[in-house]
Amino acid sequence: MRERLNELLVEVESFTAKKPEQVEEFRIKMLGSKGVLKELFADFKNVPNEHKKEVGQLINQVKEQAQLKIDEFKALFENIITVDNTIDLTKPGFPTTVGSRHPISLVKNEIIEIFSRIGFTVSEGPEIEDDWHNFSALNFPPEHPARDMQDTFFVESESGEMALRTHTSSVQVRIMENTKPPIRTLSPGRVYRNEAISARAHCFFHQIEGLYIAENVSFADLKQTLLYFAKEMFGEQTEIRLRPSYFPFTEPSAEVDVSCSVCGGKGCNVCKYSGFLEILGCGMVDPNVLENCGIDSKKYSGFAFGMGVERIAMLKYKINDLRLFSEGDVRFLSQFKAAQ
Ligand code: PHE
Repeated sequence: MRERLNELLVEVESFTAKKPEQVEEFRIKMLGSKGVLKELFADFKNVPNEHKKEVGQLINQVKEQAQLKIDEFKALFENIITVDNTIDLTKPGFPTTVGSRHPISLVKNEIIEIFSRIGFTVSEGPEIEDDWHNFSALNFPPEHPARDMQDTFFVESESGEMALRTHTSSVQVRIMENTKPPIRTLSPGRVYRNEAISARAHCFFHQIEGLYIAENVSFADLKQTLLYFAKEMFGEQTEIRLRPSYFPFTEPSAEVDVSCSVCGGKGCNVCKYSGFLEILGCGMVDPNVLENCGIDSKKYSGFAFGMGVERIAMLKYKINDLRLFSEGDVRFLSQFKAAQ
């Protein structure tokens, strides 16, 4: 009997099946009501007492092993059963389309990353603003002609007339009102202007404005900060040029150009043969603005700058129509990938 059981153990261990029917056949043969094990259990009473323990253990071992084999092959066939065997399982899967970031987000994140390396934080504020934060605190008194620089969408509300913010300088006012200097922050966000939509203008776009307020901040600090930014954004060979300008909230004010990254400053149709491209406005924060926000203008000074994210993205990716950014055309949007 022991020999028979050892043979059975070998048979069970070497069992394999190619089809589910073979597993069923094996089950009936081993564990079925007229199966081998039934027979062995029946013979068990004839085993001499001194061998009963050993033989009993062997029978149980054969039974357990047989059950394990059956379970193993059943599981195997159950998994495969749903798969049509004409399918080539080694073929690559169906491609899954993965979304990509919007070019405006990519450029915005890159700008934030560049300034965060020199200590700038990020601040956000509301898109529907009151007159104080969008205009008055920034030195645009009522009826001041400078208000016409930014054609405004006004919104009627219960709390009086509100406006869709025309720039994110409004966020900087909020920060100055609530924070003790030193302040070093960027305010990115969407802004609105009542302009006819064309390849070069839109009724909404995105800005990133920067503000630095501390003791003894000078125009030289502003220039170095912007030069650092231009080189990081457009390449080490980039040069900047400042032209005097006017903003009600900065004095002195300047507009900043970078050397054209397409022709390297030699002149081409992108820079209209000037060698330079305008990228942002900047200046030293007007002492009136500091005082309006509760900051002592005798102790503190600061600079501010503001740029359009679309403008930077157009230069970086050589895009010639502003409308593409808001049309949501996947053929356009899927071309942009984050820098590795
Ligand atoms: N707020 C200005 C604009 O929207 C940009 C700017 C910001 C200019 C800070 C100077 C300083 O046009």
